[in-house]
Amino acid sequence: MTNKAMLLQDLAAEILEQKICPQLAAGAKNLVMGDGSPDADIVFIGEAPGKNEDEQGLPFVGAAGKFLNEMLASVGMERSDVYITNIVKYRPPNNRDPLPEEKTEFWPFLLRQLAIIQPKVIVTLGRHSMEYFLPNAKISAIHGQPKRIHLEADGEEFEWVIMPLFHPAAALYNGAMRETLLEDFAKLPAVVKQIQTRDNVLKIMTE
Ligand code: URA
Repeated sequence: MTNKAMLLQDLAAEILEQKICPQLAAGAKNLVMGDGSPDADIVFIGEAPGKNEDEQGLPFVGAAGKFLNEMLASVGMERSDVYITNIVKYRPPNNRDPLPEEKTEFWPFLLRQLAIIQPKVIVTLGRHSMEYFLPNAKISAIHGQPKRIHLEADGEEFEWVIMPLFHPAAALYNGAMRETLLEDFAKLPAVVKQIQTRDNVLKIMTE
C-alpha cells in the first residue's frame, strides 16, 4: 500500500472514530471514502453516495457513475487513472440532497483528503461540491472553465485548480446537457497538461 493510501485509510478511521454525521451513519451501510488512485492528477468530487454506492462502499457505481465512466473513456482514461469521491461520505436517506450542516461537517475531511492526494486538478461535479470551492459562482456560467483558487482552512493555505462541471446525473435524461458535459470533459487532459508541476497546487504550510 502506498503512503497516500495509508493516510487515506487513517482519515477514514478518524471519520468513524469522531462519529461524523451520526444520523447519516446510522442509516448507511458503508462509509464511502473514495475510489481510484491516491496518486491521481485529477480528483472528481460529487455530492453524496446513493443506494448502489452505499451497498458497494464505492462512489459513482450507479447510473451516474456509468456515465462518468463513459466520459472518462472518451478522454482515454479509466477510473484507476483518477480519484473519485464525494463531499458527503454517507448516503442521505431516500437520496435527498445533502444538508448544509452535513456538507460543513465533512468539508474539513475533504480538504485533508485533497491535501493527501495533492491532485493537479479538482473537478467538482454539480453545485454541492462546487459551492465550497467557488462560493457565489453560478455553474451555468462557469462550467468547463478552470479556476485557480486560494483557500484557507484549518490554519493552512491551499492553492488549487478547480474545474467545475455539471453533475452527470443531470445529464442522464437531457441530451443537450450530455453534450455540454462531454465537451467540458474533453478539455480536461489539456488543463492537466498546462499545469507543469505539482508544485503549482501543492499544499503550502503557513506555519
Ligand atoms: N451521485 C453522487 O454525487 N455521488 C455518487 O457517488 C453517486 C451519485
